Amino acid sequence: MKKVNTKNFKKTLSKFTTGITVVCVKHNNSIYGKTVNSFNSLSLNPPMVLFSLGNYSSSIKQFSKTKFLSINILSNKQKKLSDSFASNAPDLEDIKFIEGKNKTVIIPNCIANLECELIDKIKKGDHVIFICKILELQSNDKLKPLVYFNSKYF
Ligand SMILES: Cc1cc2nc3c(=O)[nH]c(=O)nc-3n(C[C@H](O)[C@H](O)[C@H](O)COP(=O)(O)O)c2cc1C
Repeated sequence: MKKVNTKNFKKTLSKFTTGITVVCVKHNNSIYGKTVNSFNSLSLNPPMVLFSLGNYSSSIKQFSKTKFLSINILSNKQKKLSDSFASNAPDLEDIKFIEGKNKTVIIPNCIANLECELIDKIKKGDHVIFICKILELQSNDKLKPLVYFNSKYF
């Protein structure tokens, strides 16, 4: 075993395979989205999930102020979207967002979408954990997931 530092911590966590989500909020009629793989299930009853966002993110204020948000689980055909929402200027023009029931915006053609109510935020280290209750959802059995391992897409 080695002593932990930022470099070996990042490298070691990259060995944990995840899917990829884009979390979205609408704030003052503008859409904000971030690529996030810290998504996880939290509770079955009531249905809750969580993800964490760096407190340095350009969109942290908009996410912290929202009551509702969407979590969009990407398919293997949506690599471009993942890269775009990981940048500080995502390309929103080509996305035909679907309006959710609760003032949310949903990304089309995902393997699954969750419409959520933000019920708690916990600041830990340099991230904020967002705890969300699921209000509405849908999934597509025909699509395959976008997978992230070792800092690469599969
Ligand atoms: C595959 C992938 C997963 C990511 N997961 C997270 C995450 O869980 N939490 C997070 O804060 N940033 C995550 N990021 C980084 C953000 O998408 C974004 O680049 C970062 O928040 C900086 O955003 P900013 O340019 O708006 O400041 C991820 C990036 C990639 C490519």
